[in-house]
This record gives sequence, C-alpha cells and structure tokens, in this order.
Amino acid sequence: MPTTPPALHAFLFFSLLLFHTSLTTSTPATSNNATTQQFREAPQFYNSPDCPSISTDDEEVDPDEDHNYYICSDHAVHVAMTLDTAYIRGSMAAILSVLQHSSCPQNVLFHFVASASANASLLRTTISASFPYLKFQIYPFDDSTVSGLISTSIRSALDCPLNYARSYLANLLPLCVQRIVYLDSDLILVNDIAKLAAIPLGDRAVLAAPEYCNANFTSYFTLTFWSNPSLSLTFANRKPCYFNTGVMVIDLDRWRAGDYTNKIEEWMELQKRMRIYELGSLPPFLLVFAGNIASVDHKWNQHGLGGDNFRGLCRDLHPGPVSLLHWSGKGKPWARLDANRPCPLDALWAPYDLLQTPFALDS
Ligand SMILES: *[C@@H]1O[C@H](CO)[C@@H](O)[C@H](O)[C@H]1NC(C)=O
Ligand SMILES: *[C@@H]1O[C@H](CO)[C@@H](O)[C@H](O)[C@H]1NC(C)=O
Ligand SMILES: *[C@@H]1O[C@H](CO)[C@@H](O)[C@H](O)[C@H]1NC(C)=O
Repeated sequence: MPTTPPALHAFLFFSLLLFHTSLTTSTPATSNNATTQQFREAPQFYNSPDCPSISTDDEEVDPDEDHNYYICSDHAVHVAMTLDTAYIRGSMAAILSVLQHSSCPQNVLFHFVASASANASLLRTTISASFPYLKFQIYPFDDSTVSGLISTSIRSALDCPLNYARSYLANLLPLCVQRIVYLDSDLILVNDIAKLAAIPLGDRAVLAAPEYCNANFTSYFTLTFWSNPSLSLTFANRKPCYFNTGVMVIDLDRWRAGDYTNKIEEWMELQKRMRIYELGSLPPFLLVFAGNIASVDHKWNQHGLGGDNFRGLCRDLHPGPVSLLHWSGKGKPWARLDANRPCPLDALWAPYDLLQTPFALDS
C-alpha cells in the first residue's frame, strides 16, 4: 500500500477506538437460537445538540406506530439496504458504520428489504438485539417479482432476486419517503451519511452516484447489443459512464413519476430474449440512467475491495479521500478474515464486525 494519507490515519485511530469501546461497553446480544450467528450489542449513538428533531406534528400519522411518527419527517435521513442471512454480518457492520459516523445518528431511518420467504421476525429480532434503539422497517420482497426476469450472469451470487430489490424501492417504501440512500451490505461508511444524502440532484436527475468515465463502457454490453442500432441508439444523445449501483442516492418521487421500475423491467425482458449484457442487476441501471445521473465524489464509493471476479486478488484503494469503503467483487472481508487469509484493507472492516466469535473478549 502507498503511504497512508493523514485522513486514513485518523480514521484508523477512531476505528480502533470504536473497537475498544464496543468491547468494553457492550452487553451480549439477546440469545437467539433460530440463527447460527450471534451478534453483540452495539453502543447507543446520540444526536449532537444542533440536530433537527425528526418528530412530526402530522395529524395523519398513527402515534401508536412509532415509525410512522418519524417516517415522514423532512429531517430524517432514509437508508435502504437488503437483509438476508447470507449477508447479515455485512449489513450489521454497515449499519454500525453509518451510526458511528453520523452527526445525527438518531435521525437515520433504515428501510430493510428482505425476501418475503425469509423469517422477518427473526431478522427483526437480530437487528433489534444489536441495535435496540434503531428506527427501522422491514419490507417483504416477493422473489417472484423478478425471478421470471432474471437471466443467469457470470457471477451466480448476482442472480439472487433480492439483488434486484433496489429497482423496486419506489414501490416498496411509503410515498412520503422522497429520497433514499441505497447501500449494499458489503461496505462501511467513514463519513457522515447526511452529507451523501444531501447531494444535489439538479433539476432532472433521478439518481446520484460516483461516475467512472475512464471505465470501458462498451465492455458492459455484448456485441449483440452494440451491433443492433435500434438498441445501441439508447445511448445516442448521452455521454454514458459506468457507475456502481451499490451506493446510490435516489429521488423516489422522480423515480415514481418516470415509472423507472418498469423501464428497468423492460430491459430485463429483452435480456431474456437476446443476451445484451453479462452481469446481473447493473446493466439495466446503466441502460436507463447512464449519462443522466448527478455525479458524486468518488470518495463515496471506494469500490472493488472484494477483489477481481476471477482470481480473487486483493485490491488497493483508489487515490484520494475515503468516505465509504466498498468490498464489491467476489471476496468479502468477513469470509477472508474467517479463513485467515485477509487482504490488507480487510483490517478496516474488522472493527465494525459485530459477530460474537468464540474469541471475542466479552463473550
Ligand atoms: C440453543 O443453543 C444451545 C447451544 O447451541 C442449546 O444448548 C440450547 O438447547 C438451544 N436452545 C433452544 C431453545 O433451542
Ligand atoms: C422465525 O423466527 C422466530 C424467532 O424470532 C421463531 O420463533 C419462529 O419459529 C421462526 N419461524 C419460522 C417459520 O421459522
Ligand atoms: C472496450 O471493450 C470492448 C469490448 O470488450 C473492446 O472491444 C475494446 O477494445 C475496449 N476498448 C478499449 C479502449 O480498451
């Protein structure tokens, strides 16, 4: 690794501080046999004094339903993630990182999308045990919504229906939620998510994400696509650039108004008939949005830390500042740490791991 920038030094310091704090102050998570993984309780995080209140005076909300009381607040930061047993260890670390680096952590509302066939009660119990104060909602996602639209990709993990749930957030979430930060489960934030959520979308953009205009855009689609003018003309009046769909700020009002879920589904239907791309959920997003998104600083998605898809090599950070580390790609830090074969940067994920291991000092 090249010389560590000062910001990263500070980050490492605070990460270790957090690690220490969580070891000394946490109590073990509620015992729950239905899951084989036991997570410890995260510390409670408090708003700083100048945070706006997210309670609402709206007459229409039901005061008996706590989340409704907050959910329509303009001051809330809404975060969407998927939740499943395979990635829950990553999700827990991501949640912890969001709270840890928020200046108003009590204003962050989580919207979790889980497969309708998953045990939502178990997921709820697991999240609540580690984060007793978290404001969250779990939305069941019917796998059959997309299972008929999915064609096999080069990485089978990408074919899971829940991987496509990000295209349905506008339908799943309440109408009063106008803006959402979508996050994958294999990442950690090291900066205030409110700054990301406040990214300006301009007059027309539906979503914002870091763009990578040096990536070879051609390679995301097949020759079948490029050689068919009626298809490739999709990009005729745009300057399309690759963006990663693991970190997106989405204007749900604009999404609903433009019926973008349907536009994405149309490309997926076409993909079933003629192979126009190789990957899973990413290419339809590129087809619909590339070239028309609001740009976000690259520091908000230092992606690719999972390594390359074929040989599983370690990747380094891209040059520049870091607000979010994303282990996209085949390798996941928890799997490599468990296997005792971590990549150097996996050490930055480890302090956020809430899994109760036999080696944890407080178990
Ligand atoms: C929970 O797990 C422990 C150890 O794995 C076992 O001894 C206990 O009987 C289990 N409890 C229930 C209710 O299944
Ligand atoms: C779901 O999980 C709960 C624990 O939260 C457990 O009591 C229940 O039996 C589970 N249901 C199914 C169908 O597995
Ligand atoms: C971009 O990718 C396409 C298809 O994979 C390839 O044919 C082309 O040579 C690449 N262009 C550059 C500049 O690497």
